[in-house]
Amino acid sequence: MKRVSASIFPPIAIDRTTAYPIYRQLYHWFRQAIVSGRLRPGQRVPSTRALAAELKISRLPVLNAFEQLHAEGFLETLVGSGTLVSRAVPGQPWARAVGGRSLSAAPGSSRMTATAATMAVPPSWSTTLGPFRVSWPALDHFPIRIWSRILARHARTPPEETLAYGDPMGFLPFRQAVAEYLGAARGVRCDVSQVMVVAGSQQGLQLAARILLAPGNRVWMEEPGYPGAHQALSAAGARMVPVPLDHEGLKVEEGIRHARDARAVYLTPSHQYPLGATMSAARRLELLQWAAGAKAWVIEDDYDSEYRFGARPVAALQGLDTHDRVIYVGTLSKVLFPALRVGYLVLPAGLVPAFVAAREAADIFSPTLYQAALTDFLREGHFARHLRRMRALYLERREALTAAIAEQLGGDLEVVGSEAGMHLTCLLQPGIDDRAVSEQAARHGLSVMPLSFCRLHPDARGGLILGYGGSTPRQLEDGVHRLRLSLHQVGRSVPPRRRTSAR
Ligand SMILES: Cc1ncc(COP(=O)(O)O)c(C=O)c1O
Repeated sequence: MKRVSASIFPPIAIDRTTAYPIYRQLYHWFRQAIVSGRLRPGQRVPSTRALAAELKISRLPVLNAFEQLHAEGFLETLVGSGTLVSRAVPGQPWARAVGGRSLSAAPGSSRMTATAATMAVPPSWSTTLGPFRVSWPALDHFPIRIWSRILARHARTPPEETLAYGDPMGFLPFRQAVAEYLGAARGVRCDVSQVMVVAGSQQGLQLAARILLAPGNRVWMEEPGYPGAHQALSAAGARMVPVPLDHEGLKVEEGIRHARDARAVYLTPSHQYPLGATMSAARRLELLQWAAGAKAWVIEDDYDSEYRFGARPVAALQGLDTHDRVIYVGTLSKVLFPALRVGYLVLPAGLVPAFVAAREAADIFSPTLYQAALTDFLREGHFARHLRRMRALYLERREALTAAIAEQLGGDLEVVGSEAGMHLTCLLQPGIDDRAVSEQAARHGLSVMPLSFCRLHPDARGGLILGYGGSTPRQLEDGVHRLRLSLHQVGRSVPPRRRTSAR
């Protein structure tokens, strides 16, 4: 073990006896030192050259570690002063932790205390960019040439409407294309006047929460469920009511038993996040009946149902609603890429004025240029082609992952809900702490979200959420091997065995 000390800099330990790469060791050392306050915001750090020389290692791992720390906002460069610990560090760098979700606590949020929302320090799995990261599409398969050509076409000779203030509901041609797509592909029943373009689902959830909920209102939440929704709804002061699930989705009768008078329900009926169930028709009808009677709002998050591998696609709940209770939320984050920040809402007609007013008070409208380019992307058939390709790609990746799990982790993980989407969830054997496994896996460079992160009652059976959209079959297979090591190191499970695949 090589140690470096400097008068103003704490000693750095590099372990050369482990297979864990040096750049990851450095990266973790810095991140930990910054998060724990050993390195202060604004403090200068040695140059990569000096550090490499001190540690007697090549400069490459230091450069790689620094690049990652810069990208995640832990370090910044000041012209003339070199590299510093980011001055914006307190509470900041892990704001992008999970699938782009912010993890900071909402003031006064109720039950979230048990989960992600109140974490002072980001768990290392959430800042690791390795295999299994959720909500990470195959970005390298996005048809960037076509996209940039369309975008350039619109940017080069923009009509005035692309540059001027636009409609808070969004760019009309794009909304028309979205309405047609949702009608044909998702069974959504709507007129274009009900479609609002938003900056990703998260803005849609936040608007819905602000407009429909008052502080103290109770909201049913799938248990386990989507942390981004917990966050948006509890930020409006709503009280979350965890409602259990089974293979038919949300147990409506349990929701009624616990909170008949709830003001709203948030759910992912087509592909429950994260367990993967599809809500049965009977439950859908039961839910809509309750919502109509209780005058409750149903917030349907249809985040990834384009990727369904087995049977026919399941239509959206919205298409069954005859009482105007459903707010449908969709996103392009998974089907295209998350940095677009483009999603859409389908609103009951009566809610449109309130949403328009809230949008005008917030960011007025979504940027027109992207919407204009997306209209062509849809109309010219690129969207449908990309979807077809991605479906085949994700199917292949999912199969590679399930095969690797069956081969290497058969007795240790129980795979649930692998019919759709870009992730699957695995239950651990009872008694195993999923957060400990995730933290250990992060030391092996894996980004594995623990299931308890999605729970309002985190003490239930642990599990792991494994994203596969952004990793090749080979990376997934290798990731499963490292996961096996992690499980073993956490103290349970079977001893690691030799890998069978050629590498
Ligand atoms: C359940 C769920 N809803 C929505 C989203 C997408 O959010 P956004 O559109 O804000 O990127 C995700 C992605 O992480 C998700 O997992």
